[in-house]
Amino acid sequence: MARSALLNVMVQAALKAGKSLARDFGEVQNLQVSVKGPGDFVSQADFRAEKIVREELLKARPTYGFLGEESEEIIGTDGSHRWLVDPLDGTTNFLHGIPQFAVSIALERNGEVVAGVVFNPATDELFTAERGGGAFLNDRRIRVAARKALSDCVIACGIPHLGKSNHGKFLVELRHVMGEVSGVRRMGSAALDLAYVAAGRFDGYWETHLNAWDIAGGLILIREAGGFSSDVDGGTEMLSTGTVVAGNEYIQKALVEVINRPVPKA
Ligand code: IPD
Ligand code: CA
Ligand code: CA
Ligand code: CA
Repeated sequence: MARSALLNVMVQAALKAGKSLARDFGEVQNLQVSVKGPGDFVSQADFRAEKIVREELLKARPTYGFLGEESEEIIGTDGSHRWLVDPLDGTTNFLHGIPQFAVSIALERNGEVVAGVVFNPATDELFTAERGGGAFLNDRRIRVAARKALSDCVIACGIPHLGKSNHGKFLVELRHVMGEVSGVRRMGSAALDLAYVAAGRFDGYWETHLNAWDIAGGLILIREAGGFSSDVDGGTEMLSTGTVVAGNEYIQKALVEVINRPVPKA
């Protein structure tokens, strides 16, 4: 597997931030934590990891823009390239000692994501993809699962946390999905949920109320692993709507239909 120079920059940044996260994960009870809103936490570990990624990426490409979850956006002098970074996706898991979290880095060129890295330092799993080059888990090529019937599928989702407005709508979607599939999972990291679909571990995934940095890295993994994704309405505006439905060509379509199924009249 040959990586481009740019992908190597992204991988090195993710590994370096991952080391910092792994250190902080070992001493999680000593971290300063602040609250951004109801059910929404950020810790020193998030800030440290973002600083590392930001410095590494800007050192390598000083003219690119940078949008990260925990710092002010940098508008690059090169208007066609932008990094999209979630330094710690799965903060709630992290703070509870649950080893399901990741660094997610994506590169956008002219508004299209062309490379992505998702790294879980707790399991040493590094997911990478570049446009046209396939998707990889460490050095192994990955592909989405082949199942065609929803009834055989394990589907991941995200549950809106306290303070988000769409609990009622989510419960309707969940009821519809539960009625069709073999199992539903909620793992707590959108970036890893997408990476797991790319690796064929989950057959599909949907979530709403996300941000571009949560999903940009994972979306290119899906595409390069032979999968499909859309926003919750079946369109292509995942990054701007912060909604995503992913799977292979059959399951992705079927999930969009099931999620949008009207509520039967009582
Ligand atoms: C969160 C995770 C989670 C998703 C939330 C996100 P964070 O990101 O991706 O799985 O359900 O909506 O905000 O805050 O841990 O980076
Ligand atoms: Ca967050
Ligand atoms: Ca996130
Ligand atoms: Ca985050």
